[in-house]
Amino acid sequence: MYKIAIIPGDGTGPEQVREGLKTIEAVSHLYGFNWETEHYDLGGNYYRRTGEVLPASILEELKQFDAIFLGSIGDPQVKPGILEKGLLLKLRFELDLYINLRPVKLFPGVYTPIKDKGPEDIDIVVVRENTEGLYSGSGGFLRRGTPDEVATQESINTRKGVERCLRFAFDYTDQFRSRKKLTLCGKTNVLTYAFDLWERVFYEVGAEYPQVEKDYAHVDAICMWLVKNPEWFDVIVTDNMFGDIITDLGAMVQGGMGIAAGGNIHPGKTSMFEPIGGSAPKYAGKNIINPLASICAASMMLEFLGEVEAANSIEESVGTVCKHHIKSLNAGEMGYSTSEVGDLVASLCK
Ligand code: IPM
Ligand code: MN
Repeated sequence: MYKIAIIPGDGTGPEQVREGLKTIEAVSHLYGFNWETEHYDLGGNYYRRTGEVLPASILEELKQFDAIFLGSIGDPQVKPGILEKGLLLKLRFELDLYINLRPVKLFPGVYTPIKDKGPEDIDIVVVRENTEGLYSGSGGFLRRGTPDEVATQESINTRKGVERCLRFAFDYTDQFRSRKKLTLCGKTNVLTYAFDLWERVFYEVGAEYPQVEKDYAHVDAICMWLVKNPEWFDVIVTDNMFGDIITDLGAMVQGGMGIAAGGNIHPGKTSMFEPIGGSAPKYAGKNIINPLASICAASMMLEFLGEVEAANSIEESVGTVCKHHIKSLNAGEMGYSTSEVGDLVASLCK
């Protein structure tokens, strides 16, 4: 019996989550697993009602689940930063979800803005470190608001944090990828401390994985090559900030936010799965948002829980819907409503 906490969140989050859950329900019958859910109404409304973003008692409760299924966070009526830091980043840090796993996969039939590239060229997974780097909150102001103001924001890279991330990336590449190529994305020519550590540990840990091809590229070059030669990449591992940036680029390369999903993972512990796009409040309540990102997040969650066949079934069904049914990944342009896309994916799972 899997225990899943659901946080539908803001904007179109609840509509997306509904379709993700519909798909899990469908494969649970096909593959015979049991699951139970509990909904947590956290997000913009909850904050405006209670003045709290994530009460300590709810955080403790969330740790009791096998996984958390998140819609999206972001409410135009709440000052930017409050929900992002207080909920999304807080969960990542408090649950120590040190990996942000973000597949960049072009499904057949999906439009990519990259000319002359197809599904055989765009099948990448980014392993983003998720608890350190520039996101650690280290730094501060001096003489704030005066002409002599100083603001610092430091990138924190611990040997332990870097090593566990790289180890995950090597294990993942070795176990789940046929090509077995891992590229470290850094900036060793300028960030000569942080990425010196990353590079040293990359080759040190990498020595335990002779079967994995190792490669290094600077982050700026990776931005160029992701557009020019996406087929060069298999798995990319990088720090928190670079991972944040290159995965938005990746989302566009794979056809848009409508299909980009991610997992915030601590192997063996409560982990959290989400569509990586925002809450898209302008589409909320219209039944036009594309739910495939949430459905792909559901597939990732099932894979994490060990229901690999069910996860693959969802992924194949998403592929079929992209190839033969929907006209576009964009909200309102799919040729189907949000719930119809969910029905299609659920009914095509086998
Ligand atoms: C993401 C988002 C978050 C991040 C924001 C909302 C804090 O952009 O999940 O990529 O920067 O990690
Ligand atoms: Mn981001």
